Amino acid sequence: MTGTRPHRVLVIEAGGTSDPLAGLEADGEIALTVASRSDEAGSQLADTDCVVAVHGEGVDAVAVLTQVREFDPELPVVVVAADLTVASDAVAAGVSEFVPAESPDAADRLHGRVLAAVAASPPDRSDKAGGMPIEDLGVTEELRLKKRAIDEAPVGVTIIDATRPDEPMIYINDAFERLTGYSKSFAVGRNCRFLQGEASDPDAVAELRAAVDAGESASVELLNYRKDGTPFWNRVDIAPVHDADGEVSHFVGFQMDITDRKEAEMQVKREREDLRHLLLRIDGLLQNVTEELVEAQSRSTVEGAVCEQVAAADTYDFAWISVPDRSIDSLVATASAGEWAVPTADLEIDLTVDESMPAVSAYRTGEPQTVTDPTVLSRLASESPWLDAADLAGIAAIPLSYGETTYGVLSLCTTDMATLNAHEQAVLKAIGRAAATAINALERGRLIASDSVTRIEIQTRDTGLFFVDLSERTGASLAYNGAVYRDDGSVLLFFEADGGTDTILEAAADYANIVSAESLSEYDGNTLFEFVVTDDSLPGLLAERGVRIDSIDVVDGIGSLELELSTESDVRAIVEYLQGRYPKTEIFSQRRVEQPPSTRRAFVGEIKSRLTERQLTALRKAHVSGFYEQNRTATGDTLADSMDIGRATYHQHLRAAERKLVDAFFNQ
Ligand SMILES: Cc1cc2nc3c(=O)[nH]c(=O)nc-3n(C[C@H](O)[C@H](O)[C@H](O)COP(=O)(O)O)c2cc1C
Repeated sequence: MTGTRPHRVLVIEAGGTSDPLAGLEADGEIALTVASRSDEAGSQLADTDCVVAVHGEGVDAVAVLTQVREFDPELPVVVVAADLTVASDAVAAGVSEFVPAESPDAADRLHGRVLAAVAASPPDRSDKAGGMPIEDLGVTEELRLKKRAIDEAPVGVTIIDATRPDEPMIYINDAFERLTGYSKSFAVGRNCRFLQGEASDPDAVAELRAAVDAGESASVELLNYRKDGTPFWNRVDIAPVHDADGEVSHFVGFQMDITDRKEAEMQVKREREDLRHLLLRIDGLLQNVTEELVEAQSRSTVEGAVCEQVAAADTYDFAWISVPDRSIDSLVATASAGEWAVPTADLEIDLTVDESMPAVSAYRTGEPQTVTDPTVLSRLASESPWLDAADLAGIAAIPLSYGETTYGVLSLCTTDMATLNAHEQAVLKAIGRAAATAINALERGRLIASDSVTRIEIQTRDTGLFFVDLSERTGASLAYNGAVYRDDGSVLLFFEADGGTDTILEAAADYANIVSAESLSEYDGNTLFEFVVTDDSLPGLLAERGVRIDSIDVVDGIGSLELELSTESDVRAIVEYLQGRYPKTEIFSQRRVEQPPSTRRAFVGEIKSRLTERQLTALRKAHVSGFYEQNRTATGDTLADSMDIGRATYHQHLRAAERKLVDAFFNQ
């Protein structure tokens, strides 16, 4: 038995109360409802714990049983019948208990069977049947329990009077007091909106307003403020309460603190948003940069494209690339782009002084540097007058590193506080790597040759260089006239010198890396020497590193060298190498110069432009007439005749043309 409630038994019988039913209710354990027809009983089955079908005229107990089973297969059904053949049909149809009507103790047996059937039925039967055990407590106790439950509920509970102006609260529970910090004496009598403040969502408030006006329920999440002013996220559920006439007289409201969940959600949302922005901005950027890099055919194009693309991203206001210039020990800007107009000279950073500059650290460590700390930013801005500390939100310096080599640094400035987070730094690092890879590929000549070269001027007093020592010892001035690299690794170096031929030849014999020396010709008091040197001589070592010697002039033991590197070569590495080997060497200047035309067509065009028309004609006639073939048929006379000039004049034109051609060939 559930609580103190009697079992509700529905009896279906045709005529007046049959004998076995007499006294069934006597001990209060069973409460009877009697129906004379099974179809009348249908609506009552939901509130029934047990059905008793009394077989007789007008009531087919087995039919009743079948009907009940359709409604609820578990509901206990006890069949009472005089006809024992009904018993077997009833058993087949799933009867719970059977009581023979004629038996002398039928009433007792029925009582016992009903109790047994109810006891055997599933325990949640009475719940399923919609019973409210709290009602069993009696009205006073029930109300007291309900009040305590609401008072002590772990969520805020409020009741407002919908019939009074401005819907004041007439009840708040303890949890509401704890949640909001407001006492009952303050809150009761007021509309709940005092919890709202400047950041409460007006849409959520309007939704509550509309629900109150329409007498409907609503559920919103909005920011509320405690008595001490601290905000919290409140989930407010309100529902109308109706009076006896069905009119909305009150509203009940539940308040739940969902701040933790909301903050976690907002954090996830912020991260997602950041990431989405980043993906839009930055991933597009990486793609754009890489597309440009594939197209780029020179280092300057790479540098320009990277700056343009980075500055084109909304987030960055200004971007520039600096590369090291060892002659002035500085990072100098080679490309820049963005919203700010900054003179290139202002972007120069002294490598020896400005250790704290992000670009310098990035260059030295090969690691990206990011500065977002306002104090550091304003210090950096004070050192770079073109930077506006007030707007600046961040600076990043990304090394353009490939393997061990750092070609330069991409620096960028932003006024957007939300940028330079970890994701973004990773993408910028990837851009730096992509740029460095492209530069490296260009350097190695995998892409098309560069359009300019870097020319550096160095001075040396290092007597480890034979020409410096030779000049110092003999007082002669020497000028480099070119070199021929032989297959065995030795190099023929041609120097013109103004000293005595013998003195120089004698002195030359003292150098271990000079294999032989001889004078080739003398004119105007100068002698042309040929020195055969070993492969570890300066020109050989430079040639190995792709460095071309443009000129060497040695006067009084001081050598001035002009060297040409493909722009993509690492000037720093070359200079450091030279200084390591010849310590008394210094770099004087470094500059980028346009390369002379380098394609075949440009080369031909260049020579043609140097020849006069007559020289070109003389040369072409000689060439096409087979003048240069071994068994030549054409003679100088015939060619001169064909041009209507004398033989001597023809040869003069031809020689001049040949000289220019050969000059161009070797200088090239
Ligand atoms: C039962 C009930 C409880 C409410 N609880 C809150 C609450 O906890 N926080 C809140 O900001 N608003 C709450 N409100 C909403 C306000 O009382 C008010 O209805 C809402 O501000 C819209 O009305 P207004 O536009 O006149 O301010 C509750 C409303 C009802 C009916």
